[in-house]
Amino acid sequence: MEKQYNLGIVGFGGMAGYHYSELKKFDLRITPYSVFDVNEERMQAAREKGMKTYASFDEMLNDPAVDMVLVSATNEVHKELSIAAMRAGKHVICEKPVTISSAQLEEIMRVRDETGMVFTIDQNRRVNPDFVLMRQCVEKGLIGKPYVIESRVEGSRGMPRGWRTIKQLGGGMMLDWGVHLIDQLMYMINEKVVSVYCKLYSIEYKEVDDNFTLLLTFANGLTGMIEVGTNNYITHPRWYVLGEAGTLQINDWDCNGEIVRCVEKESEWEPEIVYTKAGPTKTMAPRRPESVEHIALSSSEEIERDNNLGTVYRQFVAAIEKTAPLAITAEQAMRVMQVMEAAFESDARGIAVQTNI
Ligand SMILES: NC(=O)c1ccc[n+]([C@@H]2O[C@H](COP(=O)([O-])OP(=O)(O)OC[C@H]3O[C@@H](n4cnc5c(N)ncnc54)[C@H](O)[C@@H]3O)[C@@H](O)[C@H]2O)c1
Repeated sequence: MEKQYNLGIVGFGGMAGYHYSELKKFDLRITPYSVFDVNEERMQAAREKGMKTYASFDEMLNDPAVDMVLVSATNEVHKELSIAAMRAGKHVICEKPVTISSAQLEEIMRVRDETGMVFTIDQNRRVNPDFVLMRQCVEKGLIGKPYVIESRVEGSRGMPRGWRTIKQLGGGMMLDWGVHLIDQLMYMINEKVVSVYCKLYSIEYKEVDDNFTLLLTFANGLTGMIEVGTNNYITHPRWYVLGEAGTLQINDWDCNGEIVRCVEKESEWEPEIVYTKAGPTKTMAPRRPESVEHIALSSSEEIERDNNLGTVYRQFVAAIEKTAPLAITAEQAMRVMQVMEAAFESDARGIAVQTNI
């Protein structure tokens, strides 16, 4: 019989509740077994779901029934909780952002190497259908060589109150959403990041970035533009990608969008100025409709409609059982962390930071 694993959860807030319900819904051979949270109300909520609770985190770590620990507390304590768990002989799945600095992540990696425990990070958005669809279309060459990828996540409700608005606790949108969107691009593009330019905005919360614009340049010249907004009353498409032979746009999380591909270059240029809705211009005059092909995009059956946490847990277990190399590694998270640090530096100094990440 395949081994079943007991998961101890430290920090039983909103996200841990999602882990709990997904683990209950899908057979991943992992039982949400126990909880420690500094908030007694959350411990009570865990007991009501039938989970064991402890008087301290140490008590959880001393419980031999616990095989693995989910670190889902606020960001500033990920490092100390992950290190303690690995030192106690538990494998760790840590919520994103893995830590709030690359120095903290280095400490985690040292302990991982000393203890030989498996350490992974819940970068669950690598399997989001919108990202998978965009990546597949680009990698199939449907728009030719890509040279700009714009990735945006925008809303107008501001940021949730609480720790996300406090710098010391790892608040701000760069660490919250930026970490996902940077991870997606760095996972897709097998090139170094050679330049980082960022502008952070603090519209509602002065202490942290509640909106930002980030420009990454990859070594092959590709530009990644990432924008996260919490004050956008009109939103952009989720993805907008320029390729040398076409343009891709995915409008929303349901993957509605299209590709417009060039079938025939516009080679006929009128000798005289052309009067268009854009005024007198040849460049921006409308092209002949038959010179392009439209391909409608939608959520595709081909794209695995997996529960995204399921993928992360399956990969985690495969690495523990040594049936596959670990998919989401601290080394990958380190590169993302270094890009975020370069972004903070870029904003503080008002310059593009040259990098080799
Ligand atoms: N992967 C994703 O898509 C995703 C989505 C949301 C949140 N998250 C991450 O999950 C983590 C938790 O976020 P959340 O939205 O659930 O926050 P939350 O505020 O709802 O929950 C955090 C919980 O941690 C507890 N806590 C804080 N310090 C602790 C400590 N030292 N020991 C034990 N418990 C402690 C708090 O009491 C609280 O119950 C964050 O790192 C966040 O970035 C990830």
